[in-house]
Amino acid sequence: MSTRLIIHGGKEIAGTIDVRGSKNAALPIIASTVLTEEPCRISNVPRVLDVERMLSILERMGGIIKQEGNHTVTIQNKNLDLEALKSDTVKQLRASILFLGPLLRRFGKVCMRYPGGCKIGARSIDTHLTALRDLGGDVYLGRKYFSVEFGEKASFPNALILKEFSVTATENVMMFLSSVPKTTFLKIAASEPHIQDLAKFLSKMGATIRGAGTSNVVIKGREKLSGASHRIVPDYIEAGTFLLLALCARGNVRIKNAPVSQLDLVLKTLIANGAHINLNERESVIETRGGIEDRGFGKIQILPHPGIPTDLQSAFGVLATQTKGSTLIHEPLYEDRFHALRELTKMGASVKILDPHRAMVTGPSKLKGVDGVVIQDLRGGAALVIAALIARGTTVLSNAKEVERGYEDLAGRLRALGADIERVA
Ligand code: EPU
Repeated sequence: MSTRLIIHGGKEIAGTIDVRGSKNAALPIIASTVLTEEPCRISNVPRVLDVERMLSILERMGGIIKQEGNHTVTIQNKNLDLEALKSDTVKQLRASILFLGPLLRRFGKVCMRYPGGCKIGARSIDTHLTALRDLGGDVYLGRKYFSVEFGEKASFPNALILKEFSVTATENVMMFLSSVPKTTFLKIAASEPHIQDLAKFLSKMGATIRGAGTSNVVIKGREKLSGASHRIVPDYIEAGTFLLLALCARGNVRIKNAPVSQLDLVLKTLIANGAHINLNERESVIETRGGIEDRGFGKIQILPHPGIPTDLQSAFGVLATQTKGSTLIHEPLYEDRFHALRELTKMGASVKILDPHRAMVTGPSKLKGVDGVVIQDLRGGAALVIAALIARGTTVLSNAKEVERGYEDLAGRLRALGADIERVA
């Protein structure tokens, strides 16, 4: 039987919770350590399943990984063998694609399994492969594996335009170009906070990167990069998840280590719609006081950063069930990310999926606990946990391992806020 979460809802949620390091920053930073043979020290690494899988792929390639306490790793990649890239773990993790760009700089040719990940839409790796082709690489697509190869005398273009604002494709290309000894203009770059954090790490390794956090990034690479030490930025998606939980539960919650400025539009939208929130950007604290007024949102528009992030879409959907009137949720990025909203109807929510990109949530609804709520993806799972915490009665959520891909000890940390939540393996 799959790992389950059993939640007795309706308990008061209050107290202080710390935000951990960003999973989506840790993953590309771990991948970029293969750009050097020198040791790299990374702290504030969240202990989540996706990070463990990423480290385990690296270890199987021959990387030497030393853990210092719970959240710091030292990685040294002297002798690597790429055979591990053909393993099943690569398929379990979408982020394994992040090894492609940096390993191509080190080996010239990489053959790997197609990456897998959350069931939230088609999500091909086409943006990555098109970018690598545009950089002069030859791409061969097999049934189970694919490979990319650069000739010995590859000459790289001065500018590269991505096909869309893809987060991991931007990261792959940034890692690749950081070790190309020339200046390249990267356009249509994604600008998420984790991309900015990766750029900081690559700069510490010796690259010069300007414009990270905008759609135009200039990268001046260096053939030989060095080891570096870095502290991973706090996770704005985790902070946003706790914030939406606190508002749904109408609790007084103090969220510490919150990267406040990375949540500008989330906070503005919530405050404009009657959320009682105090912000202290200097001290990285967000505090909620008694939830949100019953005004209704009208519309929640998901967009790439600095828009409202798709990774908070499902949790916004839960909050919409608690506010008055209808909220249109427009999710233009993924074409199948409404699974959690569909599951909410089992708990008494009024949700209509209008098409693959739009859902209508009408509230307020009194959610009730049920046995048989299925988690399909990481962020949807976190949203269903929020719903179960505010529902009357007991909810049993199956496939809870999905949530562990991206939230460290979620059950334990929520218990400290007063939640009655038990993980059953
Ligand atoms: N998309 C567009 N237009 C764009 C940009 C993206 O339609 O201009 C679509 C893509 O076609 C795709 C989706 O949006 O269907 C996401 O695209 P992207 O390539 O940016 O996603 P990714 O790089 O594979 C990363 C995160 C995801 C997060 C997305 C979007 C990592 C390891 N993963 O994925 O995180 O949802 O960016 O912000 O960084 C998660 O943490 O749960 C997670 C799924």
